[in-house]
Amino acid sequence: MKRLEGKVAFITGSSSGIGAACALKFVQEGALVFGFDIHEAKEGDWAKALALQPACHFVQGSVTDDEAISAAIKQLHKRFGRLDIVVNSAGVAGIGSVHLVDPAEMDRTMAINFKGTFLVCRHALPIMMEQRSGSIMNIASVEGLEAQEFTAPYNASKGAVVLLSKNMAIDYGRWGIRVNAVCPGFIETPMSAAIEDPGMKARVDAAHQLGRMGTPAEVANVAAFLGSDEASFVSGSAMTVDGGFSAGKRFGVDELYGLIPPN
Ligand SMILES: NC(=O)c1ccc[n+]([C@@H]2O[C@H](COP(=O)([O-])OP(=O)(O)OC[C@H]3O[C@@H](n4cnc5c(N)ncnc54)[C@H](O)[C@@H]3O)[C@@H](O)[C@H]2O)c1
Repeated sequence: MKRLEGKVAFITGSSSGIGAACALKFVQEGALVFGFDIHEAKEGDWAKALALQPACHFVQGSVTDDEAISAAIKQLHKRFGRLDIVVNSAGVAGIGSVHLVDPAEMDRTMAINFKGTFLVCRHALPIMMEQRSGSIMNIASVEGLEAQEFTAPYNASKGAVVLLSKNMAIDYGRWGIRVNAVCPGFIETPMSAAIEDPGMKARVDAAHQLGRMGTPAEVANVAAFLGSDEASFVSGSAMTVDGGFSAGKRFGVDELYGLIPPN
């Protein structure tokens, strides 16, 4: 039996990057996926998921629109009769240092990354409470665990997502609902494509102890585990999928004492 056989998943940000990779992986593992994104994808992982499982469904809408989310989740429930997994992957980058950030840009980043996650959970939870089961994973970031230069709105929004996830793990565990934040390092998606400068790309690669950025599929593998019954005792975690990015710092002492990597 496949890992997610018979499960129904609602995925935001399903048209691109990590959300689309989750849709494809979930379908490969036997799930039915209901995608929700502000953009419709005609190709890529979402299109592959749909080709593999034509019963999947997509609704176009924004995670900032409470009514659209409510309508989509009602439609999902009517169509599939249950809701086992939610992946909140819709997100945007929010850059700038505090004195340079336009308040409207801070509002936009918080509205999509943080409040959007809250709104989706608000409508998904009653169905899961009725079922007395469910797995919610909120795609935060290593930038929700530690700060990075020039990304004040993004850092703030992802830190909020991490603690909202832990709050929900406490409040809804009694209904058998598991809630986890997933904290990827830098992942090769359209969002990170702005890292074009070769010098900066090399520094970003080197900041991951494995020496490279991750792929959307590597995050989707972890999401499939968290959505499955194999993760039945995993709740309230901020799970890093970051190639060692947040493990700690290196100053060269290791190499000074002879820990030289093989060629
Ligand atoms: N790429 C990375 O390096 C990285 C690292 C850590 C965390 N993340 C997080 O992973 C998540 C997915 O990012 P990604 O890298 O796949 O980016 P992406 O740009 O490939 O995908 C983001 C998706 O969200 C959708 N979206 C944006 N605003 C929306 C809205 N208002 N309503 C509905 N959908 C909306 C976009 O249309 C897009 O399909 C984001 O939350 C991001 O912050 C990304």
